[in-house]
Parts: sequence; structure tokens; C-alpha cells
Amino acid sequence: MHIEELATPAVLVDLDVATRNLDRMAGFCQKHGLGLRPHTKTHKSLEFARRQLSRGSRGLTVAKVGEAEVIVAATPGEILVAHPVFGAAQLERLARLAAETEILIAIDSDAAAEAISCAAARLGVSFGILVEFDSGFRRCGLAAGAACVALARGIERLPGLRLRGLMTYFGNIWGSEEERASQIRCTAREVQRAVEAFEAERLPLEIVSGGSTPAAVLSHLIPGLTEIRPGTYIFNDMNTVYQGACSLDDCAVRVLTTVVSTAISGQAIIDAGSKTLSSDPLSSGPKSGYGFIVGQPSVTLTRLNEEHGYVDITRAGPLRIGEKLSVIPNHVCACVNMHDEVFIVGGEQVIDTWKVDARGKVR
Ligand SMILES: Cc1ncc(COP(=O)(O)O)c(C=O)c1O
Repeated sequence: MHIEELATPAVLVDLDVATRNLDRMAGFCQKHGLGLRPHTKTHKSLEFARRQLSRGSRGLTVAKVGEAEVIVAATPGEILVAHPVFGAAQLERLARLAAETEILIAIDSDAAAEAISCAAARLGVSFGILVEFDSGFRRCGLAAGAACVALARGIERLPGLRLRGLMTYFGNIWGSEEERASQIRCTAREVQRAVEAFEAERLPLEIVSGGSTPAAVLSHLIPGLTEIRPGTYIFNDMNTVYQGACSLDDCAVRVLTTVVSTAISGQAIIDAGSKTLSSDPLSSGPKSGYGFIVGQPSVTLTRLNEEHGYVDITRAGPLRIGEKLSVIPNHVCACVNMHDEVFIVGGEQVIDTWKVDARGKVR
């Protein structure tokens, strides 16, 4: 089927581009002796998770228990829950999963360690644990050093927990290549501080997990890391483009939309609004607009309602009702999470339809 025959709005994934992105990241990690544990939050799909694993990923990463429950079908290997999971109901579900597959959890508090240990004891299972430290993002994670050691000692005393190392997220490594390169030096110092504190106390350092997509290709400059967890890299988006971390040609996802109204002069309305594209802004580059309209450099997507996208055509010729436009989203993870399925395309042809298996799994 030709893509123009699809009902819109529709999320298209160019399989050749996604495959190239997967191969490139796997090759980079292999070259630098880094493990790869991709974050599945971007695609939330078993098909893509299997492709990540078949390229040598050592396991998968999720944020939520519900995502782990879905993604487990793709892997007999380890799943890392890289989010401070808390709550009896969620931990009981995670303990059930731990009975069939190795579950690692990153935590930054005694309270979480105790709750996880209780859940493990109740179901007679064990969890691998990473101590999360803050390497500059200021979201979660203890200060690198003594606080991490104190939590680690507490974890070692609790039944059902096996301390395996450290985890951090490089969400602050952002911006132009020069900005990222300078931030990476500060991050490297924090990673070194955390690793040295564990080494001094002879605590396990089997895993030192870090990374993000914008930082991925600089990760080899951080001594002590054993693995990285990029997620967005599989599809990329306008934020990744404006950070200089990929080119437009590396963006695998386009949202196919239709012009549905031209009644107001100077604008056209497309059938893709915030419930299709997400209203996430651009965090770098021009910091305006809600996605890049492919092949139409003079038109901009200036505003979104839930189901309407406002296209400014004052600097371009008119668009006609029924015309198809394709939009590269600002934040592809949030966009894909709003769709039941994605259409796998090769050129202009639809090859397949894949489910977004873990969409909406926020608990
Ligand atoms: C803990 C954690 N690890 C890894 C990632 C992946 O980073 P990116 O989206 O830059 O690929 C994220 C993204 O939110 C994250 O929160």
C-alpha cells in the first residue's frame, strides 16, 4: 500500500533509517567496549526491542513496571527499571516478574531499598540493585561519594537484594557539540567520584550504567562506565537534530497528516494536534514550533490544539485541502506513546503495522 492511502494522522517509521540507527549505536558500543542497554521508552514495541537485542544489547531498560511486564516477552535477559519505583502494588508485580527474569532496579533511598526487600521476601525472589547517583542533572540520585556508600551498605544488609553497581542519567548533557563536550568533563568527574568511593569500600562495580542519546557518542570519554542506555537514538527527533546529535536523514519517524482546513487566510489546519504529536517544545535550536514539516522549509507548525495543527503559510504558497504533510516531531518518545500502532515503511510503501505494545503503561 502507498503511504498516501493511509488514514491520517499516522506514525510512519522508516525501517531502513531505524535499522541504520540501531546498527550505528551497536557498532559504537562494540568499538569502545561499552555495553548497551537501550531504553525502550522511545518505541515501546516488542519488535524493536528484539532488534536491539539481536544487535548485542546486554538487556533492556524501562521506566515503569507496566513497561517491564510487556517488554519481558522480548527477552529472557535482564531488564533494568531505571526509575525510582515505589508502592506495594507495583513492587509485588515486579517481584512476580523477577521470578521469571532478572530484574535490576536503580534506587536512591533506604526507603526504596526496604520496600523492595519486603516485596522480594514476600514472593521469595531477589532483585539486582544499582545505586543511583546524580552526575549533574539534578533529578534523582544521591551525591556521588559517601551517600552512595551508605546506601550501598544498607542494601547489602537487606535480604532479597543483590548490589551490582551504580547508575546515573546524563540528562544535563544537552546543546551544541561544544556544550556537550564541556558538560561531559563535569559528568566524568562525578562518575569518577562515585566509582572511586565504591572501589575504596570494595563494593560491587559489575555495572556502572549511564548515558542518554545526546551524550551517547561521547560516552567513551567517561572512564569507569560499563554501559550506556540511550533510547531516542532508534528514531531521533527535532530535539536530537538541533543538538547536532543527528541529521534530519537520521529521523526515522514522520507523522503523516492531512490538510483539513484552509478557511482562515495565511494558515492551513492539519489533522495532527497535541494528541498526535505531543505538545512538547523544542529544547534547543529555535525553541519554537511543534515539529518540522518535511520538504516545506517555508511553512511552520506554530500552534497545536488537541486535534488541530496550525500551519503558518504566510511565507509560502497556499496548501490545498487533502494535501498530505509529514512532520518530524520535537519529542518522538512522547509522540509514539500516544499511538496504538506505527506503520513500518520502506520509501513510500507501507510494509507492515507494528503495535506500540507498552503504550500508556505509566504504572
Ligand atoms: C533514566 C534514563 N535513562 C536513559 C534515558 C534515555 O535517554 P534519551 O532519551 O536521551 O535517549 C532516559 C530518558 O529519559 C532516562 O530517563
